[in-house]
Parts: sequence; structure tokens; C-alpha cells
Amino acid sequence: MRKKIIVLTGAGISAESGIRTFRDSGGLWEEHRIEDVATFEAWSRNPALVMDFYNQRRKQLYEVNPNPAHFALASLEEKFDVRIITQNVDDLHERAGSSDILHLHGELKKARSTVDPDLVYDIEGWELKLGQKCEKGSQLRPHIVWFGEAVPMIEPAAELASQADIFMVIGTSMNVYPAAGLIHYVKGKADKYLVDPNAVALQSVSNLTVIRELAGTAVPQLVEKLLQESR
Ligand code: APR
Repeated sequence: MRKKIIVLTGAGISAESGIRTFRDSGGLWEEHRIEDVATFEAWSRNPALVMDFYNQRRKQLYEVNPNPAHFALASLEEKFDVRIITQNVDDLHERAGSSDILHLHGELKKARSTVDPDLVYDIEGWELKLGQKCEKGSQLRPHIVWFGEAVPMIEPAAELASQADIFMVIGTSMNVYPAAGLIHYVKGKADKYLVDPNAVALQSVSNLTVIRELAGTAVPQLVEKLLQESR
């Protein structure tokens, strides 16, 4: 049976594609206040501002491409059963060819109903507008998990983490829960890798290899090593 590799990615994996991270110097949260653009309260107070923030992010997404880290993860599927859990709302894993991707924090290119969370739609082009409604007549909102909201996909993600033979964490500051807690669901004997130039110290995590390098170079090397070892 193929070994199961579970990968948790964060903004750092898309940084070399040209998408700004959140908490690095120059990150998005330096320029925008979370309370103004990424909470349900912000949306209730000033939906136009929130809409514009995500419209700009979505517009930029059409101008960037996956980088070698995304492509390397897709190539891992040649030999492994690979599942990606991403905190990112971009679609760069999809565009690189990964086939099994769980979006913990939503997806930029989708909108959802404000009365029925099961009504989710693809957004045509980059702009979602006030006045665009779901089939039940309510305003569409960005399909994003905002701060303070429940993370509906965390249970399937934790289940995946618990099944990992190999667990990789790439490009996340591990600041945001519950995503940051997923590593604690991974079996002690599973090999774990953390790729991040500013990797946080993860005491109490066994079998952990920390690679303090950029994802665009370190992930293809790590993937090559794992593919070689599986031969
Ligand atoms: N390669 C690998 N890692 C990188 C690179 C790179 N080229 N560039 C930056 N990083 C790392 C940084 O060192 C940092 O640890 O990426 C991490 C980015 O951290 P954050 O900006 O906090 O992003 P993330 O951890 O994904 O944020 C989690 O917070 O704001 C919310 O919902 C948003 O999903 C997001 C969540």
C-alpha cells in the first residue's frame, strides 16, 4: 500500500509566486487591520470595504502562477497517497496539479450565501459585487473563514493528520488555531518535516526535521529525496 503523506501549507508556500503573506514584514496585516476586513463584524459594518479587500486579492490571483514548491507536491502523487490541507485561499495547489486539496480557510474564487452556508458558487472573473445574490435572494459573501468564525473543515483535516505516515508543514507561522494544532494529531512515529525560513520551535513534536529554507528550493529537494527513498 502507498504511504500517506499529509501536507499542511500556509501563505509561505505561495510567497515566491508573488502573493504576500500575512505576518512577515510587509505582510498583509501590516497594511490592513484584521478587524476591518476579516471578521463578520467588519462585513456587517462595511461590506463594501471587505468586498474590495477580497476583490483585490482575487484580481491578483489571476496574475500569479504556482511555483516549484506547488509543482513538487503534485509530483509526489507518482509514488504516494498525498493529501494537501491548506490554509491558503488561493488555487495554486489546484493549478499545479495536486488532486486532493482541503481548504481550511475557504477559497478566494468562490462566494457563498449569507443565509445558507451550503450554497457556494464559483465567482466569474475577479469581482464579486454588492447586489449579487444567492438563489434564496440573500447577498453573496466571500467564501472565506473569517476570524472568530468556526472552521468547518477542521474535523476532516484532523482525521487526515492522524492517518499520516509522513507529515509536512510548509510556510506557516503556526499562529492561527485550530490549524496550528493539527500537528498534534499526527502519530508520534510518523516522520515530520517543517519547511520555513523562520520556522517556529515545535517542542514536544517527535521525529521532526526542521528545514529553515525557502519553499521554492527546499520542497523540490525534499520531494526528490522522498521519491528516491520510495524506489
Ligand atoms: N518559503 C517558505 N516559507 C515562507 C516563505 C517562503 N518563500 N516566505 C515566508 N515564509 C513563511 C514565514 O516565515 C512565515 O512563517 O511563511 C509564514 C507565513 O506566515 P503567516 O503570514 O502568518 O501566514 P499563515 O501561517 O499561512 O497564516 C495563517 O492566518 O491571516 C490568517 O487566514 C489567514 O490562512 C491565514 C492564517
